[in-house]
Amino acid sequence: MLANKTIVLGITGSIAAYKAADIASKLTQAGARVEVIMTEAATKFIAPLTLRSLTGQPVVTDMFEPAAEWSIEHIALAEAANVVVIAPATANVIAKLAAGISDDMLCCTVLATKAPVIVAPAMNVNMFENTITQENLAKLKARGFIIIDPAYGRLASGKMGLGRLAEVEEIIGTIKQVLGRSGDLAGKRIVVTAGGTQERIDPVRHIGNRSSGKMGYAVAEAARDRGAEVKLITAPTSLPEPAGIEVIHIETAVQMKEAVAKATPQADALIMAAAVADYQPKSVAKAKIKKETPSLTLELVRTPDILTEVKGNFLKVGFAAESEDVVANARQKLEKKQLDLIVANDITDSSSGFGTDTNKVTLISQDGNVESLPLLTKREVADRMLDKVVELLGKKP
Ligand code: CTP
Repeated sequence: MLANKTIVLGITGSIAAYKAADIASKLTQAGARVEVIMTEAATKFIAPLTLRSLTGQPVVTDMFEPAAEWSIEHIALAEAANVVVIAPATANVIAKLAAGISDDMLCCTVLATKAPVIVAPAMNVNMFENTITQENLAKLKARGFIIIDPAYGRLASGKMGLGRLAEVEEIIGTIKQVLGRSGDLAGKRIVVTAGGTQERIDPVRHIGNRSSGKMGYAVAEAARDRGAEVKLITAPTSLPEPAGIEVIHIETAVQMKEAVAKATPQADALIMAAAVADYQPKSVAKAKIKKETPSLTLELVRTPDILTEVKGNFLKVGFAAESEDVVANARQKLEKKQLDLIVANDITDSSSGFGTDTNKVTLISQDGNVESLPLLTKREVADRMLDKVVELLGKKP
């Protein structure tokens, strides 16, 4: 989705400027045309040559000497941009943007552009928390700028505090979200579940399963990148929270059911990629169970079937991880759970299913359509599945 997009990356004078090289590199590798504008202060922290080498584009550092490839018109980049990202953004540039000052190429470009502008501040904690900076950020937000809040951590001063540049993945995720705003899921609300639920046995133990959450997270990110407003209800995973998505953390099947019931009344689609435990311990021991007996029997009771029990006029998509008769079993689940679409995968295939980055699935829809996909990355599977969701949403009364 970044291919052929023009991203203007503004870099200002912060120690975090070196991280902009990583952003530029990742965006370029994803196929975007990255046009870098550096303030003079930024060039003290990182060489323009680094950015030029990573992006393959001339880097603009001086308003009065535009790079040869660009027209003399100093707002050429402002017009070419699909999105402008300032990372890192210092207190100084934030103040200038809030005041409409345009005394360098970056501020000129921001003032002149009609593209969305993303600002990722990075500075000393006191500078960030200063009322003036906060007022300036509030002003920019009110004018439609997207602010990526800095993170808490070790700052250049050696102190801990709020002011570190947000993670590169979060910045790139926000760029994708902003670029996807007019995608084919724009205006749609999608609830996605992910990960394997954990059913508590006692304060330190649980019953779990091997789901990594990767499939559900890929679905959530793909839906976000196509313009949907996404809520991700996730069981514990080791994956980072995706940017631009409301993430709701739960542990058990019962908690997931409650979160789904709360999130779905306004939804257009529910996509259940989570591996929900079918059984939970009848009771949770209050204290840690000691190994006093030679054997131990746990009594398990059924968990609620979320997909079957959730009610509402939204599209219902299920996943079926099967080890035999994949398509036949999945079709049965589609009927039993009254789904619009089911994504069946064969978990006996080692390149498919739990923990892997790839998946080989068959999409089966209520209208009888069966589509077997080749081995794809989970993100590709997510997009192919969402193509079907878009089609089914279009047909839904
Ligand atoms: N699912 C659910 N609630 C449950 C169990 C599963 O909503 N308690 C959802 C899953 O998220 C998935 C679909 O139902 O989208 C199918 O899940 P799966 O585990 O394959 O099927 P089960 O109904 O649990 O049947 P079985 O384990 O017997 O194959």
